[in-house]
Amino acid sequence: MNKKITVVGAGFVGTTCAKRIIEKNLADVTLMDIVKDLPQGKALDLMQSAAIEGFSKKITGTNNYGDTRKSDIVIITAGSARKPGMSRDDLFKINSAIISEVVTQISKFSPGAIIIMVTNPLDAMSYLALKISGFPPGRVLGMAGILDSARYSYFLSEKLGCAPSEIQSMVLGGHGDTMVPAPRLSKFMGKPVTEFLPAGEIDEINRRTRDGGAEIVKLLKTGSAYYAPSSSAVKMAENIINDIHETIPCSVYLNGEYGLRDIYFGVPVKLCAGGLKEIVEIELTGEERDNLEKSARSVAETINKLK
Ligand code: APR
Repeated sequence: MNKKITVVGAGFVGTTCAKRIIEKNLADVTLMDIVKDLPQGKALDLMQSAAIEGFSKKITGTNNYGDTRKSDIVIITAGSARKPGMSRDDLFKINSAIISEVVTQISKFSPGAIIIMVTNPLDAMSYLALKISGFPPGRVLGMAGILDSARYSYFLSEKLGCAPSEIQSMVLGGHGDTMVPAPRLSKFMGKPVTEFLPAGEIDEINRRTRDGGAEIVKLLKTGSAYYAPSSSAVKMAENIINDIHETIPCSVYLNGEYGLRDIYFGVPVKLCAGGLKEIVEIELTGEERDNLEKSARSVAETINKLK
């Protein structure tokens, strides 16, 4: 039987996720939104591309959570997107009410699902989803590190004059202004990028990566990024459905790993068919650890607002 992925939120991120899933023939998709007819219209439009794109999986749109029943994976993108001048944390109040409602419904109709949270502020919304769903932590994952690392790879590739896919980069920590791009752990031709670029240039790329989301908000003016975020969420779904144990950074619940407890935080992990397979603990330098701890304090502050 085909796997079933529900995407909640038929906005920019959700619809682009649905399009990527269906074009990869990964799973059947149920696209859910509260706006009447919107997900149905987007699903119909996507299905009408099937004869040209050659996919065989089905996408349906709905306003009824009953139709999301027995999903294997639920990607949650419902919420408000960041507007210019708004930080991810400004979104906190609006989106926590939305996520509480969405996760209550999802856990009722798909009690065995794996949740991939995309809505910002990401680490806090993932924590909220864990608490509301009552799911084990290994089935509630947050999408952030893959996106931040992909941005880092792109900016580094521009300076190095290589393809972005030739760089295996690593961005750790919270998905916000305190995220920790790790140049020592980011490799080009198997060697740290610090061996190829001067410190000043790396500092500038680190800053641009931390501001990666805000730079796009400023350009788009009425919304936030969606192409790279949807690629990142679908990569997590692919890792789960195809049981790939690749090491990728995701926001997961930490219970002592990296010296942190009761927090969702971006660290390298391996995903598998059941969700989280393993949290990979890398040896960090003193400076990297200090930066991670600073980032953890900032994430914990946002999470504490939920308690
Ligand atoms: N249930 C289902 N869908 C909802 C709900 C709800 N309770 N509340 C809002 N939505 C839907 C909206 O109707 C809209 O279609 O969520 C969708 C959000 O889409 P956009 O406004 O286009 O936002 P998008 O750019 O997709 O970003 C969504 O992802 O990357 C994050 O920061 C971003 O938190 C934001 C989220």
